[in-house]
Amino acid sequence: MKRSEINEIVRQGQSFIESFGFVLPPFAHWSVDEWAARTESCREIFRAGLGWDITDYGLGDYGKTGLFLFTVRNGRQEDLSAGKGMLYAEKIMISKKDQLAPMHYHEAKAEDIINRGGGDLAVKLYHSNDDGELDRERKVTVYTDGVERTFAPGDILRLKPGESVTLLPRVYHAFWGEKDDVLVGEVSTVNDDHVDNYFLNPIGRFPEIEEDELKHRLLVGDYEALQ
Ligand SMILES: [Fe+2]
Repeated sequence: MKRSEINEIVRQGQSFIESFGFVLPPFAHWSVDEWAARTESCREIFRAGLGWDITDYGLGDYGKTGLFLFTVRNGRQEDLSAGKGMLYAEKIMISKKDQLAPMHYHEAKAEDIINRGGGDLAVKLYHSNDDGELDRERKVTVYTDGVERTFAPGDILRLKPGESVTLLPRVYHAFWGEKDDVLVGEVSTVNDDHVDNYFLNPIGRFPEIEEDELKHRLLVGDYEALQ
């Protein structure tokens, strides 16, 4: 992706998020110079991978296949191993109308996907089989706001604003906005996007960036150069 495209997506995404009254934390607004001056005090942000995160899944057509994410908080893998402590994470995301977040599952992470406003959020569901592929036979049972619902493999669950679904590990899901762009919340187990995303079709999670413009905001993938 070009940096100029990323800058524009961040600007538009921020105003979309704020239009729903969701107020982002301070580090959402830091300039590149402010980050550079705060490197020492921001180790926890770097460790947790908090902040702006935009992906086109390496496919080069963000409007078609992509996701806008802002990680608000994220716990520790060591705590997860210990079974106590900071075991949770929270993201705010945007699924644009007809923009696909492609089919994937998580081995460790359970996640609640929440429609926080805008259009409808369509979520296509499958179980994974023992080989990590789509199970085209097994029905999928999920909780939507505490209500048990069972779907045929490949069925599409549609979440209206305010509705959510709990997706347990190894449940395949792909999602996109319908009728309008959707503000999507995620409340989950500790999140490690480097190792816990199993895509049905091998694709990238973090974009290659062509630096054609100065950075408006740093993405999570930009932190490495600071440390
Ligand atoms: Fe997911």
